[in-house]
Amino acid sequence: MITNTELEYKGNLFPNQIISHKKEVDKITFYARNNVALQISFLRDSVLRFRYAVEQDFEPDFSYAISEDATYGYNHLEIKELDGHFSMYTSKLEVRVSKSDLRLAILDLDGNILNEDELGFHWEESYEHGGNIVKMSKFSQESESFYGMGDKPSQLNLRGKRIHNWATDQYAFGKDRNPLYKSVPFYIGMHHKTAYGIFFDNTFKTHFDFCNERRNITSFWADGGEMNYYFIYGPSISQVVVGYTDLTGKPELPPLWVLGFHQCKWSYYPESKVKEIANKFRELSIPCDAIYLDIDYMDGFRCFTWNKEYFPEPKRMVEELAEDGFKTVVIIDPGIKIDKKYWVYNEAVENDYFCKRADGPFMKGKVWPGECNFPDYTNPKVREWWAGLFKELIADIGVKGVWNDMNEPAVMEVPGKTFPDDVRHNYDGHHCSHRKAHNIYGMQMARATYEGVKRFSFPKRPFVITRSAYSGAQRYTSSWTGDNVATWEHLWVANVQVQRMAMSGMSFTGSDIGGFAEQPSGELFARWIQLGVFHPFCRVHSSGDHGHQEPWSFDEEVTNITRKFIEIRYQLLPYLYTMFYEYTENGIPMLKSLMYYDQDDLHTHYRNDEFIFGNHILVCPILEPNSKGRRMYIPRGNWYNYWGGEITKGGKECWVEADIDKIPIFIKEGAIIPKYPIQQYVGEKEITELTLEVYYKNGKEESQVFEDAGDGYDYKKGRYSLRTFRLTGKENELIIQQFKEGKYETSYETFKVNLIGLPFKVQSIQLDNVEIPIHEIILNGDTNMTIKKEFTELHIIGL
Ligand code: GLC
Repeated sequence: MITNTELEYKGNLFPNQIISHKKEVDKITFYARNNVALQISFLRDSVLRFRYAVEQDFEPDFSYAISEDATYGYNHLEIKELDGHFSMYTSKLEVRVSKSDLRLAILDLDGNILNEDELGFHWEESYEHGGNIVKMSKFSQESESFYGMGDKPSQLNLRGKRIHNWATDQYAFGKDRNPLYKSVPFYIGMHHKTAYGIFFDNTFKTHFDFCNERRNITSFWADGGEMNYYFIYGPSISQVVVGYTDLTGKPELPPLWVLGFHQCKWSYYPESKVKEIANKFRELSIPCDAIYLDIDYMDGFRCFTWNKEYFPEPKRMVEELAEDGFKTVVIIDPGIKIDKKYWVYNEAVENDYFCKRADGPFMKGKVWPGECNFPDYTNPKVREWWAGLFKELIADIGVKGVWNDMNEPAVMEVPGKTFPDDVRHNYDGHHCSHRKAHNIYGMQMARATYEGVKRFSFPKRPFVITRSAYSGAQRYTSSWTGDNVATWEHLWVANVQVQRMAMSGMSFTGSDIGGFAEQPSGELFARWIQLGVFHPFCRVHSSGDHGHQEPWSFDEEVTNITRKFIEIRYQLLPYLYTMFYEYTENGIPMLKSLMYYDQDDLHTHYRNDEFIFGNHILVCPILEPNSKGRRMYIPRGNWYNYWGGEITKGGKECWVEADIDKIPIFIKEGAIIPKYPIQQYVGEKEITELTLEVYYKNGKEESQVFEDAGDGYDYKKGRYSLRTFRLTGKENELIIQQFKEGKYETSYETFKVNLIGLPFKVQSIQLDNVEIPIHEIILNGDTNMTIKKEFTELHIIGL
């Protein structure tokens, strides 16, 4: 056995023998002879928190990440003192703390090691900054895989990688580039078919090494702050992600239109150009709900102003766009132009709202408007002021959403592309340097923006999108993956990034479809749209200096493919909205990577391309030019090909046809997929019938449909409609039971039921035990019927 003294190398310091411990209600604190303290909090039977202090004093407990709505409470807590260690038990876990050095092992109740310290907690004093570099190293278990970590553009399984979290503006970043725009210091470890999660809630620059430096060791460390991490037990990945999302929070439902298609470019101006784009969508019947104004709508890039030459009457324009179903979204950056004639600047100076350098002057840096100062969004007063600034845009002009950019914060023409470390921040009263506040700057900006947009949109729901984020930002905002490139590699990157964000608690994410930098070929654009409509956030964006990326900018074939796939998205709106509901209600990610979907199947552990959209739709993008199809892995179970209806038995890799107008899409057997008619924008049509595509299964499957007014907060008062369909198929019958919850009355009275894959010919149909003559319900070719929506049981009997 190696002792800690032998391990005191490279200036690292380690805890030594435990000399006392203290138990409070839900906490146990151990004190080592050399004044190191370890506090274990038992938040839930499966969620534990570990904090270390080196001088016995813990920092005041404060976190931007942890949600006020997180669930607490455990069933069981017991502590035992044994020879070499203390053991603590909840109803799910055992934690062992070694008496000689505070090293930990976490086990399930069958005695299997889930996670075990190697060196455990250690630290290095930093003379330069004061404080410590805090470190943790753990043994990685046999064949352990690692997932999570936000927006990192690497293969999903991070084994072998080293990751850095320091929000950075990375124009045209490439595969494996790191750090990127977001900091999500959360990972999922999985071995022996069992998963756990670790959330290192530290906003300093953090680092994670997944068996990169040493083959069997995983470590994480931060350039300051506390060793403060949460352990979330599975055993399923789903339980880990749900547990993490419970801890860091869930968003509210967005307005339904936000799930439609968005068109953006840097920049659409003047007004006539914006109108031309909007009109073209309608002319070509390509559904679209939102149009974006990038920085050129402002007067000299001053936030909260308008360039009156380009946009003489913004209110009128926004209203006219709205009459045609378009919602206007505008960009707002953090840099405030230094200009004594500019009211926003003056208000901030008068009230002392800008960030300052350590020795007093305002933090000054160049962004789009030239030299700027930057609000300190970590100050609650500044957030309140910032929220108030949205009155004119939202309440008066009628803008429906706000796009926060450059909030890493990005600064041009300086090393490091951001603030220097010495900049001071309020940090909600826990004053600190930029080293600590950097990673949450963007999140706090988005939070302040959200509060403003929400205040002035009320009683409607707000929409905010951000580039930078820290864990928990999902409570306030959606996000996109930043300045990608129009290359095939970036299509691959977009696919892994959005999946990774979903398993990192931030489902509401999309990429710049088509690529931001450079110009895609028509084929690449088509392939990107085909993936993008299956991302929770769906927006085309481009830098515009290389050409055009509207659906009609290529050839007619591309326009038609774009229309076809956007139409699929609009048809699937009730399905997408139900996924969103599951995410907001239960923290279930909207996209499920294959290892999430079936962790017991080892084939899934290194897959990247295929994912499950919601619960029942398997999607696999085409990532190479000139493809007529591709090889892909179909997970276990039986799947219907969306295009042809034929059934494939999964658990194997196979070739799937997908010429330029298709991508591989499969529906899980037993699923009931709800569909709306195609609309040019959300609310264009009153929904007079809900289509239910029923995919026969010999067995059972459950599906849900969530609906409400599509906006406003009545759903929180019970005015929603949640239908649960329980399908049971046998050799020659099919039963669908419906359970309904909620007080919302949908506008339609009937379902159009499409029966797919029925292995028998229909002999009779009973609705709530009453036989209905087949001709009355219009059965076309045995597969298609209309029935009243309020049924309890539909029973289809075969010949
Ligand atoms: C940044 C953003 C991009 C935006 C541009 C101009 O590069 O990431 O989306 O279009 O700034 O505002």
